[in-house]
Amino acid sequence: MRLRKKPWIAEAIREYDDIVIFSSDEVKPGHWWECFGSERPIHVELGTGKGDFITGMAKRWPANHFIGIEYEEEILYFAAKKVREQSLTNIRLLPFDSNHIDELFAPNEIARLYINFCDPWPKKRHAKRRLTDSRFLEKYKTVLTKGGAIFFKTDNERLFEYSLNQFAANGFVLANVSLDLHHYGQQVDNVMTEYEKKFSAQGMKIYRCEAYLPV
Ligand SMILES: C[S@@+](CC[C@H](N)C(=O)[O-])C[C@H]1O[C@@H](n2cnc3c(N)ncnc32)[C@H](O)[C@@H]1O
Repeated sequence: MRLRKKPWIAEAIREYDDIVIFSSDEVKPGHWWECFGSERPIHVELGTGKGDFITGMAKRWPANHFIGIEYEEEILYFAAKKVREQSLTNIRLLPFDSNHIDELFAPNEIARLYINFCDPWPKKRHAKRRLTDSRFLEKYKTVLTKGGAIFFKTDNERLFEYSLNQFAANGFVLANVSLDLHHYGQQVDNVMTEYEKKFSAQGMKIYRCEAYLPV
């Protein structure tokens, strides 16, 4: 997702310091519930973008806590704005790199991870940068609870194929695999992301799966 540089956002996003956690000193591995004031399952989205998905999910599942990680502050600003406008109290947003997920969370702390329309990094030599590559899955496995899951959506068939193989090779059990979610998909409760709305409006197929860690 590319945005033209908007210098005003660097200042404007500071108004959302009750929603966005700017400093790594405020990151609380093992104690995230303190931010929310109650202990509930933690769901994390990697590459949150402008926040359509995370706000939709938080509204639909008020008994869960949601944390969105998005390293572009210029994009995250729009997600923070939606959280405030919709008065959602069960979301926090982190302007950090997903690569550091194992420093942001304690082992067994996350019930579910969402990866939606991540960059496909189509060149073979860049495969290790894909958010579903084994290098990342190893980290996700430490922070996910037993029985925890990754819910994954993409428009990219080759990335999907690659990811299914990576999930399986890393001990995840696949469920609800769909090769065309909006037409022949499993009956899943689907909240659309910004990219999903755009791609499906163009008639593109959306691929989706759930990958579970054994209990
Ligand atoms: C293609 S967009 C998809 C946005 C949204 N998930 C959607 O489906 O509409 C990918 C987003 O992930 C963010 N991103 C990519 N790599 C990231 C990383 N390592 N850590 C955090 N955010 C990342 C990008 O800045 C971008 O906003």
